[in-house]
Amino acid sequence: MTVQNPLSTTAPPVSSAIQAGYMSGFGNGFETEALPGALPLGRNSPQRCAYGLYAEQLSGSPFTAPRTTNERSWLYRIRPTAAHWGQFRKADAGLWRTAPAREVDMPLAPLRWDPIEIPARPLSFVEGIHSITTAGDAGSQAGMGAHVYLVTRSMQDEYFYNADGEMLFVPQQGDLRLWTEFGIIDIEPGEIAVIPRGVKIRVELSNGPARGYICENYGGAFTLPERGPIGANCMANPRDFLTPVAAYEDCEAPSKLFVKWGGVLWQTEIDRSPLDVVAWHGNYAPYKYDLRKYSPVGPVLYDHADPSIFTVLTSPSETPGTANIDFVIFSDRWLVAENTFRPPWYHMNVMSEFMGLVYGVYDAKTGGGFVPGGMSLHNTMLPHGPDMDAFEKASHAELKPHKLEGTLAFMFETRFPQQVTAFAAETPALQRDYALYGRKLARHFDPTKP
Ligand code: FE2
Repeated sequence: MTVQNPLSTTAPPVSSAIQAGYMSGFGNGFETEALPGALPLGRNSPQRCAYGLYAEQLSGSPFTAPRTTNERSWLYRIRPTAAHWGQFRKADAGLWRTAPAREVDMPLAPLRWDPIEIPARPLSFVEGIHSITTAGDAGSQAGMGAHVYLVTRSMQDEYFYNADGEMLFVPQQGDLRLWTEFGIIDIEPGEIAVIPRGVKIRVELSNGPARGYICENYGGAFTLPERGPIGANCMANPRDFLTPVAAYEDCEAPSKLFVKWGGVLWQTEIDRSPLDVVAWHGNYAPYKYDLRKYSPVGPVLYDHADPSIFTVLTSPSETPGTANIDFVIFSDRWLVAENTFRPPWYHMNVMSEFMGLVYGVYDAKTGGGFVPGGMSLHNTMLPHGPDMDAFEKASHAELKPHKLEGTLAFMFETRFPQQVTAFAAETPALQRDYALYGRKLARHFDPTKP
C-alpha cells in the first residue's frame, strides 16, 4: 500500500489531497515504500539504492538490546539527516520544560486545573507546549514531562524532532495531522499517537484550534503491558495499533528545523523538507491507536481492581513491575461488582499520578471541577480519592449493573515525584480550593451501629 504524493519543489504537499494509510500491528517488522522498488530487497545497505536514495538507520535502542526491546528502522531517503543540518542556535522554548526542572515549591497538596484556554494568538505545535509537570531526569533517560499543547496554526516549512524523549499525543479538542518521516498520521480526540524519539514531524491542524495532552517519555519506549493470566486477548490488542505507510515530501524550499536536545530548543535553517523518506522498514516507527477500541477487563463479582488493569501502554524501568510511566485509561465499561464501593478507592501511592479528561465524567469526581481539558496531580504519597458527592452516591447506590458511557479519562503514572512548573503554579486555571476537597468528607462512624 502506498500513498500518492504530489512531487512539489516549492511547497509542502496540500494536505487535503492526501489520505493517510496505515499498517496494522504493534512493534512489527513493517516495510513500506511510496515508490515501487524503492525498498532494497535482501539487504539493508546496497551499494547504490534505487532512485538515488540514501540509506540511513535510526536506532531507537542500543544495538545490543535484547530482541524484545531492540528497535531500529532503515530509512531510504532523498538526503540523509546529516544533510538536513545547519548552524543551530538556541530558540525560545516558550513554556516547554524538561526534567530536572524545579521552578517552584508548591504546598504539599493534591492539585487540579481547569482547562488551559486556547489563546487567539498564532501558536504552532512547538510554540504551544505548556509544561505542567516534569519528573526524573531526561539526561538519565528516566522520567517524563506532562504537557498541554495549545495549537492555533499549522507548522509551515517548519519541522521538529525531540531527542529528549518520545511523545505520546492525547488529543482533547481538534484533530491533528502529523506529517512524519515515516508517513502521515491523523488523530482525533479519543485516539492517541506516539512519535518515537528522533522522528521528525510537522504538525498540522485539521479542523481548527487544537488542545491536548503530551506525555514526553524520557525512558524506555512505550510498549504493551504483559497480560499475565488475562491471556492472549483483551486490553489493547496489537492489531488495533496503526503505523503509517511511507509518504514523503520532495520539497526544496527555505525551512526551519527545530530540535529539542538536552532540554534546550535549538533551531536552524535548511533548504528543504527533511520528511523525504521514500521507503522504510523496521520496528521503530510512529503509530496511532483508537482508545475506544480498548477492551477493558475488570471485576465481575466484587471489589474494585487496581487501575493497572486499564494500562494501555507502559514504559518499563530496570525494576520489574515498576514502570517509568504507565499510560492508563478509564473508558466506557460496565460496573457489576456486588456489595462493592464501585468508584476508585481512597489511596496513597508510591507512584505519582497525573490525570486528564478527554470527555465525559470521571467516576471518582462527580461533584464537578474535573472537566474535559482539565487535569489533576496526585503526587507521590499524597492522599486522594472520590469527592464527597461520589462517595455519598456510590455508598447508597442500588448495585444493579451500570454502564459508564461517554467517558474517557487517562493517567500518566510515573515512579518519580512530579515537579510542577512555574506556569502551572501561577496559571489562573489552578483550582486554589481543590487541596481541601477531602475535608468535606463527612464522619459516618457510629460505634453503636456495626
Ligand atoms: Fe491513585
